[in-house]
Amino acid sequence: MLVLGIDTSCDDTGVGLVRDGRVVANKVASQTLLHQQYGGVVPELASREHTQVIDGLLEQALAEAGVRLQDVDLIAATRGPGLIGALLVGYTYAKGLALALKRPFMGVHHLEGHLYAALAEHPEVEPPFLALIASGGHSHLFRVTAWGQYELLGATMDDAAGEAFDKVARLLGLGYPGGPEIEKLAAQGDPEAVPFGVPLQGQSHYAFSFSGLKTAALRAVEKGFDKADIAASFQRVVVDHLASVVLRAARDTGLQTLLVTGGVAQNRALRERLERAGLKLLFPPRGMATDNGAMIALAAWRRWGGRGDALSLPAAAYLPLA
Ligand code: KG4
Ligand code: ZN
Repeated sequence: MLVLGIDTSCDDTGVGLVRDGRVVANKVASQTLLHQQYGGVVPELASREHTQVIDGLLEQALAEAGVRLQDVDLIAATRGPGLIGALLVGYTYAKGLALALKRPFMGVHHLEGHLYAALAEHPEVEPPFLALIASGGHSHLFRVTAWGQYELLGATMDDAAGEAFDKVARLLGLGYPGGPEIEKLAAQGDPEAVPFGVPLQGQSHYAFSFSGLKTAALRAVEKGFDKADIAASFQRVVVDHLASVVLRAARDTGLQTLLVTGGVAQNRALRERLERAGLKLLFPPRGMATDNGAMIALAAWRRWGGRGDALSLPAAAYLPLA
């Protein structure tokens, strides 16, 4: 079964192809440079750019996989959440293809895509497992009880983890996206130099909070701490916070498999911290932690039960997964 997946939920255009659960093409056109000059994503510009590049990306993905459009069996696209204008570009494009080619169509939740990206190289894994999604827009901890069934254990009370990296990077005069920049600078700093406290310690829930750290980082800049030390200490405390919540959830639920996905999953310090905990860890392969189309195709393939969604299923800017 050959599945086409499209994601245009934010500022990356992603077109991917998955054959029988294996990624055979994954093309992403990043708009980072376009939005960088505005200090954030400009929704209208994002939508326009998606319309400009989506046809070419589809051609490239088909060429990479060595298949023709007619070979595609199922067409999936991100339904939400995201910027509605941006979402609609890929979503209606996919519906149009499904209609023209007479193939089933599936609307996929963006977070479901992130989740299944971590299973790209682990087709043997079966639920139940824990899933931490940490990206620029989300910090969510789910218990996946069965394919397509999610229980939300905790979420952020304010900023997302990636958003915190981005905001602190801006404070330090670093580029966007901030995560990789902070990680680079942190390598030259002392992670204990700035006494940042781990947020929400002692809580009985599985919530996350990052906005206090952002303020604490601003204070550290004002006090004249070394930038590399701030970066290293900030990264250390974010990692401690994420790890302490997910490891407690693992203990409480008895689940020993943890999937970590979203842009922040690329962070080496986070990986190393979790690796020491002795859980079975699943991370997305290179190029699949951040937004892409192959993850949407993978999610559709996992969920496929012989029937697609109605073409009347609307896209949604706000769409809880559970
Ligand atoms: O999943 P993603 O590409 O887009 C969203 O759906 O948000 O995640 C992007 C986020 C950005 O906030 C970026 O700063 C963060 O992931 N990120 C990282 C790293 N690489 C990307 N954060 C920490 N360490 C990294 N190495
Ligand atoms: Zn995403």
